[in-house]
Amino acid sequence: MEAPIHPKSIVILDFGGQYAHLIARRVRECGAFSEIRPPSTVAEKLKGAAGIILSGGPQSVYDDGSPLVDPDILKLGIPVLGICYGHHLLAHTLGGEVTSGKTKEYGRTSITIKTKTNLFAGLPDCFTVWMSHGDEVTRLPSGFVAAASSSDCVNAAMANDARKFFSIQFHAEVAHTEHGLKILKNFVALCPHEPWSVESYAQRIGTEVKETVGDRRVFMLVSGGVDSTVAFTVLNEVLGSHRVQGLLVDTGLMRKNEVRRIKDAFDLLGFENFETVDASEEFFSNLAGVYDPEKKRRIIGDTFLNVQKRISTEMGLKIEDGWMLGQGTIYPDTIETGGTQHADTIKTHHNRVEAVQTMIEMGLVIEPLKDLYKDEVRRLGEEIGLPHDLVWRHPFPGPGLGVRILCAEKEDTIDTKTERYKIQDPDKLEARSSKLEANFSVLPIRSVGVQGDNRTYRHALAIFGGPRVTPEFLELATSVPNADHRFNRVLLCTSHTAPVPFHFTPGFVTRERADLLREADDIVYDEMHRAGLYEKIWQFPVVLLPFGAALGHQSIVLRPIESQEAMTANAVALPDDVLKRMTDQILKLPGIDMVFLDLTNKPPATIEWE
Ligand code: XMP
Repeated sequence: MEAPIHPKSIVILDFGGQYAHLIARRVRECGAFSEIRPPSTVAEKLKGAAGIILSGGPQSVYDDGSPLVDPDILKLGIPVLGICYGHHLLAHTLGGEVTSGKTKEYGRTSITIKTKTNLFAGLPDCFTVWMSHGDEVTRLPSGFVAAASSSDCVNAAMANDARKFFSIQFHAEVAHTEHGLKILKNFVALCPHEPWSVESYAQRIGTEVKETVGDRRVFMLVSGGVDSTVAFTVLNEVLGSHRVQGLLVDTGLMRKNEVRRIKDAFDLLGFENFETVDASEEFFSNLAGVYDPEKKRRIIGDTFLNVQKRISTEMGLKIEDGWMLGQGTIYPDTIETGGTQHADTIKTHHNRVEAVQTMIEMGLVIEPLKDLYKDEVRRLGEEIGLPHDLVWRHPFPGPGLGVRILCAEKEDTIDTKTERYKIQDPDKLEARSSKLEANFSVLPIRSVGVQGDNRTYRHALAIFGGPRVTPEFLELATSVPNADHRFNRVLLCTSHTAPVPFHFTPGFVTRERADLLREADDIVYDEMHRAGLYEKIWQFPVVLLPFGAALGHQSIVLRPIESQEAMTANAVALPDDVLKRMTDQILKLPGIDMVFLDLTNKPPATIEWE
């Protein structure tokens, strides 16, 4: 069941566009609390909201089954901003007309302001925006004026200042839209919100935790990651360490020396209320013979819970004695799992596996960070005095190396010789590839990506270019997945300059594979620090693939990315010398004979490979 909205928050109704989280983040930058709700949310549930934003979405308002908005929402007297699909929806719901546009506009477009509405206060007459649409509003609902237009879209924005209803064809939330933040600020200023900031949240959080926990005590798994460390610290500060017990489970899927690092860090912070348990054998035996990524996640999540239950019983921490479960879940983890009805489940977060969901519904879980985005958690961490290095550690997924050890039972290839690339201009690609003296091969496995609002499970195309990233390779990383939907990733093979046949070996998650990946990850970690890149890179997954250039051998993928919130990400082109050093050292590991650098942005690829 949906929880009630926070009073005076700005609610984003998520129509399936990939941008709902971005909108929510931006609204918070404007100083108002924001939350995301499904499109089916009825007016009754939105009473008390300060503002409502109708997000973008992939559909057309006239498509069968496309999500509509409860028209009563528009009678609540609450300011409304429609963006892209939300623009069409507002027009359609209020009696305007939407038609399939003659020209589809994608990317940067210049718009001209036609009417100075409050939404555009303080903006220049003409600026560049980011559009992605096929449909357009061709007749305005009564009471609205055309607020802006572009060369291909007469009603690029419409406004009814009296009702505080506005809508825009372009995406104000993306960085490519000039003055996008100002537009959102203008909207937020028109909404009767309460000022919000991480600092104000930090002040309030104590009261909330105390209310939720009452006189109970909290048992919590800590991983050493930013989220669980900040959550554990908050609980300790608010409840006192005698009412909190931490447990560090060594899953066997952690980084090299991680358990020791975490112990050292917690010692430094003076936390003595946590135990460590080595449960690696249990994790590996439960994962034996499992190849499916979602099944792996479920098993890891369930094993965590079983270990935690067993240990908490051994420690005598029973629910009936007033113990509850603490988790470091953050806001995107609670939404990506299907809070959005119109986006596919990209992947189930391990903090939301069924057993935890049931406990949440029974009121047995406290998640003090569940309303915050990652950078807000970091700011909160600094606010409560955690050391900089700890707060700025790269994010590491809960299932750990488990989602970075790619598993496959059999080879999965496509024959590009018979099935030519369906790239708009294949000759151009081949000509370009020969000019670049790079050759291509398709990987014999697939990985997860996200295109539009859908999860994809596709192949990666590897370019054999050696340890040097060129602008041409980077361009291919954008153009290939765009033009040929059999691919969602483009990799640079940094260990080879000419294609070699891939030799596939079936593989699931084993201690041997985890140990091997740990060594590769450690090399990357050291080199990244030595090159002074740690704080420039947002996250750097290192992935093990079940094939190599020789039979029985395996490959490593380097996946450095820059990001703000992990919703979108850009691949980082590592400097040549760093790339070479990493490649050379990884190739010395036993059984690794190929190294790749993933050049793909998110979208179309996800950050992790599963
Ligand atoms: P993707 O791969 O979806 O990752 O682009 C976005 C961010 O989420 C992290 N991630 C996870 N974190 N459990 C986690 O705790 C998971 O199952 C999981 N899957 C992805 C990923 O590392 C990145 O920061």
